[in-house]
Amino acid sequence: MCKKENENFPCAADRRSFLNRLSLALAGLVGAAMSLPPIAYVLSPLLSKPRRKWRDVGGLGEFPIGETKLVKFQDATSTAWAGNTAMTGAWLRRIGEDQFIAFSVNCRHLGCPVRWVNDAKLFMCPCHGGVYYEDGAVAAGPPPEALARYPVRVVDGKVEVETSPIPLTTNDLV
Ligand code: FES
Repeated sequence: MCKKENENFPCAADRRSFLNRLSLALAGLVGAAMSLPPIAYVLSPLLSKPRRKWRDVGGLGEFPIGETKLVKFQDATSTAWAGNTAMTGAWLRRIGEDQFIAFSVNCRHLGCPVRWVNDAKLFMCPCHGGVYYEDGAVAAGPPPEALARYPVRVVDGKVEVETSPIPLTTNDLV
């Protein structure tokens, strides 16, 4: 039982109890405030839609029918400070007057950039020996599935590729 030292002030035990509760409340507030950013960081990919953007990769005349050329563009998910790391690309093949196929440069195994070997008509991955046929299907090595494709369109004589996050899993793209 607390014995009041003075009529106008609470006793020492009451003060101590009040300060304990205040400290716990403040610690709880600080803890909650500090945990918000990491929680938001973890949950944000679930809540935000993957960013997609059409990128101009060149004029129609730059792509002869039947050829497969590397085109470079900025990744749709890049941040303002990403610099050169924001650049990605696709292997673009013109298959008709205004028909194209854009293969992702990222191997479906672990994402290494594949290269097109025109003489062999194969895409080769330098990392673990992944090989893809001309149509992007797996020919050999560890890749679990065919190269991803980006949507392509032709607008006013310009070829545009719809960029999206680096495709590593099934159905990341089309
Ligand atoms: S990353 Fe291409 S085979 Fe492993």
